[in-house]
Amino acid sequence: MAFAPDQIVASFRHRFPRAGTPSLYRAPGRVNLIGEHTDYNLGFVLPIALDMACYAAVASTDTGKLRVFSEDFDEEFEIDLNSVSDAKPAGKWWDYVVGVARELERSGIAILSSDMLVKSEVPLGSGLSSSAALEIASAVALLGGQPIKPLDLALLGQRAESQFVGMPCGIMDQYASVFGHAGAAIKIDCRSLDHEYVGLPDNVQVIAVNSMVKHELGTSAYRERVAECQAAVKALQEFDSSIESLRDVSMSFFVEVQERVPPVPRQRARHIISDTQRVVDFAAAARAKDLKEMGKLFVASHRSMQFDYEISCEEIDFLVDTAIGIPGVYGARMTGGGFGGCTVNLLAPDGVDSFRRTIAEAYEARYGKTPLFYDCKPAEGAGPVSAESAA
Ligand code: GLA
Repeated sequence: MAFAPDQIVASFRHRFPRAGTPSLYRAPGRVNLIGEHTDYNLGFVLPIALDMACYAAVASTDTGKLRVFSEDFDEEFEIDLNSVSDAKPAGKWWDYVVGVARELERSGIAILSSDMLVKSEVPLGSGLSSSAALEIASAVALLGGQPIKPLDLALLGQRAESQFVGMPCGIMDQYASVFGHAGAAIKIDCRSLDHEYVGLPDNVQVIAVNSMVKHELGTSAYRERVAECQAAVKALQEFDSSIESLRDVSMSFFVEVQERVPPVPRQRARHIISDTQRVVDFAAAARAKDLKEMGKLFVASHRSMQFDYEISCEEIDFLVDTAIGIPGVYGARMTGGGFGGCTVNLLAPDGVDSFRRTIAEAYEARYGKTPLFYDCKPAEGAGPVSAESAA
């Protein structure tokens, strides 16, 4: 359910009574349908932007400061605009905002002294890109209508996260938050940074299931995977020096030489090469409205993450295994960075109620936790929320 714009404006006024009338912006989270960890290997990914978004209400001030209040954390942060360029990350939610402010400054875009309130509907730590939603919402709010190319906006958000926050992420999340399109998934070519929209068949519903677990391995394991993929590239370059990333490696070539790649990088490479191909195949199956094939690719992708990339966990495997045994479910897989968060499920619309019931009962019985369900309808990317609705 999208927040009502007037509620956010009212919260802003309550928090910052002396500020002027705020402008309101939103940036969505995303659910990735297929192609996991393929973005930093320059392959393909296929996310959809969600109607769950992060909102930022902003008004300029004459304080010389950037003051940000997070309604979700009930916490305020302020920074002198002169200190943005030497700011250090604090391990807090505002790192994303400060990282974005720093990147805007570095791109030569003037940031005005402002009061800002942020509030998000994207669940934290669930693999639905709450961080990218916060980065992009803050970026559009701080831009305040100054022109920027959409791709530059996405890249700026990614730099804020990789260079300031310190998470060496790919481009998928910020790209999806910027380029989201109602009614379609976005097939992103992470090398050319082009995209095409892929409509999903009408008779399928995409439901994300939040396992409500997030294992703390997150960032360190992500870093490890990035390094293992680089090790695989290095080993493969011995056979073909033109290889720059795993995107350049076909499965047939890999099968020929894989024995010469050390075991762990070999497994990681097998996931990346096969999942990149699965994005292409899934987009073709979606266009052909072949739900069975789309479902098969989902499950194959999950097994590849479970056994080759080793980024799943017990609770997520349980949700996937339970889902694929339920009538009306075409396929299920983990989505996002891994080690918890959400699964994404493709199902027949008339199977949704019994799916929710069966999953909730089974998961509660096994783990004593109540999973949350999100109906993932593709939504538009970041932008202003119309003035009338925010008035
Ligand atoms: C995180 C990163 C993305 C991507 C996914 C895994 O969400 O931010 O860049 O690598 O994990 O597909």
